[in-house]
Amino acid sequence: MNVDGKQMRPIWFDEDTKTVKVIDQRRLPHELIVEDLTTNDQVIHAIKDMYVRGAPLIGATGALGVYVILVQKSNRGEDDAWFKAECARLRDARPTATNLAWGVARVMEKALSVPLYDLRVSTALAEALEVVEEEAVNCQKIGEFGLAIIKEIAEKKNGKPVNILTHCNAGWLACIEYGTATAPMYTAFDAGIDIHVWVDETRPLNQGARLTAWELGKHGIRHTVITDNAGGHLMQHGMVDLVIVGTDRTTRAGDVANKIGTYLKALAARDNNVPFYVALPSSTFDWTITDGIKDIPIEERDPGEIKYVQGLVDGKIASVLVPPANSPAANHAFDVTPARLVTGFITERGVCPAREDEIMALFPEKKIG
Ligand code: MRU
Repeated sequence: MNVDGKQMRPIWFDEDTKTVKVIDQRRLPHELIVEDLTTNDQVIHAIKDMYVRGAPLIGATGALGVYVILVQKSNRGEDDAWFKAECARLRDARPTATNLAWGVARVMEKALSVPLYDLRVSTALAEALEVVEEEAVNCQKIGEFGLAIIKEIAEKKNGKPVNILTHCNAGWLACIEYGTATAPMYTAFDAGIDIHVWVDETRPLNQGARLTAWELGKHGIRHTVITDNAGGHLMQHGMVDLVIVGTDRTTRAGDVANKIGTYLKALAARDNNVPFYVALPSSTFDWTITDGIKDIPIEERDPGEIKYVQGLVDGKIASVLVPPANSPAANHAFDVTPARLVTGFITERGVCPAREDEIMALFPEKKIG
C-alpha cells in the first residue's frame, strides 16, 4: 500500500540480496524500521515478539520462513528430519492464528516433494511467494465483496457518513495488501462513499491506536481512536452502522477467534442490532474443528505487556509502568465470538452467513466425507 508515495508491504523478498525483509511493527507509527530475516531463529523471534503480526502476515512469514530454514548459513537442508523439526519449531512460534501452521505446512510439503537440495530451495521460495501473492489477491477480493455491504448502508443513510467500528489491526500491515477488515473500507472510500472509522485502541499493545489509525490516516480515511470500552456506548447512541473485524482462526462452524475484546463488541452489536461482520481469507479457517471455545488455543502473553504502556516520550519510544509494580497481571491475547453473534463472513469467494452449511457452500472442497 501507499506510504508517503512509496509502495510498501509488511513483508517482501529482496531479489538483489536474496533476503526476506519485514517492517518492525513494534515501532510504528513513530519509526518505520525494516529488518532482515536470515535465520529461523530470527523468523521465530520476529513472530513471537510481533515485529510481524496479524494472521495472514504470520502465515506469509511462516511460508517464507521455510525458505529461510533451507538457505540459512548453518543449513542442513538435505537432512529431512532436521528440516521438519525446524519447520515444527517455526510453526509453534504463536498458537492462535491458524495461518502460521497452514503457511509452514504448505511450503514444507512442497519442498519435501522434490529430492535435490537446489531444487528444494527454489521450490520453497516459489511456493512461499505464491502464498504472499495469493493472500494479497484474497484481500483485494474481500474488499470487492465487502463493498456491497457498505454501499447498501450508505444508500439507506442518504449521503450521511457510514460509521464503521473495527478492533485491533486487520489492515494491510496484518496481511499483505488491503487488509481483511479494512479492505472493504479502502474500496468504499476509493469508490467515493463517505465513511468514518471508529478505531478501538486495542490494549495492551494498541494495534488499533498505533497501526490501524496510521494506515487509515495514510490513505486519507477519516477515523477516530476510541477506548476499547467505548463501542457499546456508541452503538446505543446510533453512532455505529457496522462492525467489521478480522480473525486469527475461525472454525468450520463459524466460531471466531480474534483479538481479546472482540467478543464484547459482538455482544454489544447484537444488543443494538448493529451488523457484525468478520472478514477473512480461506487460510484463516480451521477446517478441522467446529467448537471454537473448546478447540481454539488462546495465546497467553507476557503480563509485562499489560503493565507497561509504550509510547513516544521526548521524541523517543519509551515504556511506562501503569499499575503497582507488584500487582499481578494476566494477558489473554484472544477471545472467541460464537457463530450465533456473527452476521456474516466476508471471504475471497463472497459473503455468507456464519453457519457451517453456508461456509461449506462457498468452500465445497473442504466438505468432510
Ligand atoms: O496479536 P496480533 O496483533 O497478531 O492479533 C491480530 C488480530 O487479532 C487481528 O485482528 C487478526 O489477526 C486479523 S488479521 C487480518
